[in-house]
Amino acid sequence: ITSKFEFTNIKCIPKDEQFGNFECCYLKSVNRTYKYVTIKYYFNKLPITSIQVNVALFKRFNGYKPFLYNVTVDGCKFLKNQKSNPIMKFFFETIDSFSNINHSCPYNHGIIFDKLTIEAVNRQFTKILPFSEGDYMVEINWMSFEKLRAVTMFYGTLS
Ligand SMILES: *[C@@H]1O[C@H](CO)[C@@H](O)[C@H](O)[C@H]1NC(C)=O
Ligand SMILES: *[C@@H]1O[C@H](CO)[C@@H](O)[C@H](O)[C@H]1NC(C)=O
Ligand SMILES: *[C@@H]1O[C@H](CO)[C@@H](O)[C@H](O)[C@H]1NC(C)=O
Repeated sequence: ITSKFEFTNIKCIPKDEQFGNFECCYLKSVNRTYKYVTIKYYFNKLPITSIQVNVALFKRFNGYKPFLYNVTVDGCKFLKNQKSNPIMKFFFETIDSFSNINHSCPYNHGIIFDKLTIEAVNRQFTKILPFSEGDYMVEINWMSFEKLRAVTMFYGTLS
């Protein structure tokens, strides 16, 4: 496998600041080979008993266009049985060990993605899927009680 992934940008967009907000959201380049993403989100009211997550992949052709994957799961059900949705499991495995989200509902704390590295993304994305070179974006829509609360977008280039 010769392909190589690089993060190029991330965006975190709160959609309901009554519900919660981002404490931080950044892509840090320590040096050429060590780059990571850190995101912290806090809830204004706990516990969180309802989560729906939509993950959509985009590829840039003439602007970013939906590409191959668009999956939505009930987060609480998914966390109980991760085999129930292999595509979501694939996305989830990428961030799993860098976050505090891998437990069953309810949530009594904010969400942290701490130092998600390019290597981790590379390892995962080159594992099974024959992706072609190009610019990609993964958009995650975070919902609770079916209402959109936050959006995170991860931009990267596969070369
Ligand atoms: C990049 O930074 C990491 C973490 O500080 C370090 O382990 C690694 O050796 C550095 N790589 C280069 C090429 O400087
Ligand atoms: C993903 O699917 C949902 C439900 O069908 C749709 O509302 C949404 O617009 C789709 N997202 C993209 C990026 O195509
Ligand atoms: C996430 O939790 C499930 C269920 O407890 C466990 O099987 C899995 O190994 C965990 N993954 C990680 C990366 O901790």
